Amino acid sequence: MNRFTSARPASATGVASNVEERVQALLARMTLDQKIGQMTQPERLHVTPDEVKRHHIGSVLSGGGSCPGDNRPADWVAMNDAYWAASMEEDADHLAIPVLYGVDAIHGNANVRGATVFPHNIGLGAARDPGLIERIGRVTAREVRAAGVDWTFAPTLAVAQDPRWGRTYESYSEDPGVVGEYAGRIVRGLQEGDGGRLDGGMGRGGGGGDGSGPVRPVVPEGVVACAKHWVGDGGTRNGVDQGDTVVDEAELRRAHVAPYVPALEAGVLTVMVSLSSWNGEQCHAHRYLIEDVLKGEMGFGGFVLSDWNGVDPLADDYGEAAAAAVNAGIDMVMVPERWREFIAGLREQVERGVVPVERIDDAVARILRVKFACGMFERPRPAARRGSNSNGFGSREHREVAREAVRKSLVLLKNEGGVLPLDRGARILVTGPAAHDRGRQCGGFTVEWQGVTGNEAIAGGTSIWEGIRAVAPGAVLWGGGASCDENGAFGNAEDAVRTFDAAVVVVGERPYAEGMGDIREPGPVRPGTNHLPAGPGVLQPYGRTLELAALHPGALRTVRALAERGIPVVTVLVSGRPLVVNAEMAASSAFVAAWLPGSEGAGVADVLFGDHDFVGRLPMVWPGGVVSGRGRAGEVLFPRGYGLRLLGSEV
Ligand code: BGC
Repeated sequence: MNRFTSARPASATGVASNVEERVQALLARMTLDQKIGQMTQPERLHVTPDEVKRHHIGSVLSGGGSCPGDNRPADWVAMNDAYWAASMEEDADHLAIPVLYGVDAIHGNANVRGATVFPHNIGLGAARDPGLIERIGRVTAREVRAAGVDWTFAPTLAVAQDPRWGRTYESYSEDPGVVGEYAGRIVRGLQEGDGGRLDGGMGRGGGGGDGSGPVRPVVPEGVVACAKHWVGDGGTRNGVDQGDTVVDEAELRRAHVAPYVPALEAGVLTVMVSLSSWNGEQCHAHRYLIEDVLKGEMGFGGFVLSDWNGVDPLADDYGEAAAAAVNAGIDMVMVPERWREFIAGLREQVERGVVPVERIDDAVARILRVKFACGMFERPRPAARRGSNSNGFGSREHREVAREAVRKSLVLLKNEGGVLPLDRGARILVTGPAAHDRGRQCGGFTVEWQGVTGNEAIAGGTSIWEGIRAVAPGAVLWGGGASCDENGAFGNAEDAVRTFDAAVVVVGERPYAEGMGDIREPGPVRPGTNHLPAGPGVLQPYGRTLELAALHPGALRTVRALAERGIPVVTVLVSGRPLVVNAEMAASSAFVAAWLPGSEGAGVADVLFGDHDFVGRLPMVWPGGVVSGRGRAGEVLFPRGYGLRLLGSEV
């Protein structure tokens, strides 16, 4: 027991002043080392519980794919228990301040084995269903808490302007209106969890523009959310990840700042800064964007986090880089490996007067405010919390929500001759590399940073094939997903192929994340800003073109080979973005954009066989030719908002 665990619980009325009193009282007792420690966020592989105590570390994160033990919820809870216990020891040198652990639960708590994996945001943007988004937030919060974790680096509020960007799938839409419509709902779902409604929070207003806005409690059933990446991440020139967003301020506000307004109104507690630049100036050192616009004008009272190694490129000297970030308004610094250098460097900059102590106090007050406001000081150790190690993790109930999201996210782009819905009694050939591959369905940020292929690593759920098999006994998975040979021939299987009534060909992209999904000429990106172990600092992009026939020629070959034999082909595209598929679409009778549906492939069969109608609408323009310039210069095959119902009318 210490003074904090014995303090009054944060609840209902009077909390705002109560939190502020507690923040100021605690801050007044802290040394400079303890304050800088609170501002430091190492990665779990690089910091032990003992070091968390010794260096007064305020937060630890898991980078994508960085998972303890056997990667089950119990392993995560045990790890979090150890960090938490270290942070809560109180003695002459150390104050008990609970450590905040953060993960990328960006489409469910998908790092963890057996999690319910939701469609990536681009598919949710097609669903146009804000209520569903809030429910997804609640389920995600439960599965994050089941692992003993308090914080997710979500939602991504990027407004992707160019499908060549490797993070397009993390964006709900190219339309800031669609992103904004979801922003508040996902924040509420995540931060409230099952705990009922949040009556505001530290997002916006009321604080007189000094960022010390009113503090209302987050019901402690949710997790802390993090709106990212502030700001303009989706607008970089040519869709280059971590690139430069070249727009005037009015356009930046219209297209990229706007979705943060509802997120702040819903009380989002943290914001992560973008690794990109605005008109040549890096967001990580952009005082105007962070201090003036976000905290000042918009009244954000929570804390601002830097992104992975985001301080590194700011200056040659690490201390100077740290000072630039902190003086720009960054409160907590994600320094996965170089955290010792960061601590020493920042300390020196404070002692030299480069970083004012008031700025440090403001940063730490913001971090403590979030910790108090969400009841962290009152929570017992992670293993003893409600929902910890819960059976609900990956449960049928949670997967039902994901399956609903899958069916609502599918966009029907073509249905010639009414080939859909398929007949359950028909003989259906199912093929293509994404037909029976839950890893591919889930895409990046699933178990591994770059995602996985195959079914083994994704425990639970159904592949698209498994969903079809469950309802259509006459369906056959062709050669374990293999298709025709290089010449479009089926060899010995030629006669057998001709006996099928229809084919479902599931094709698309392999999993990728961040810059490794970019479409551009290969070449170096800024070193130090990616997760790859210290290497040449070169991220290979996904390819040079958005044209599926060039990226994965087997898809067109298979579709054509089947169509030429008179078999109507339903092509299902599993991809993180619209691709140029004119040829595949022309050869197919029906064409479905499935995005990255996640673990519940059965949601695809729900719609292909007509148990539910298609309701999805394109969240982005669908290009019909080469994409250049700002992503719109190419031919447009379908406008944003397009999508067909089974009976042919538009959604
Ligand atoms: C990404 C963030 C992510 C962070 C932690 C960075 O590379 O840009 O979106 O939250 O890593 O994994």
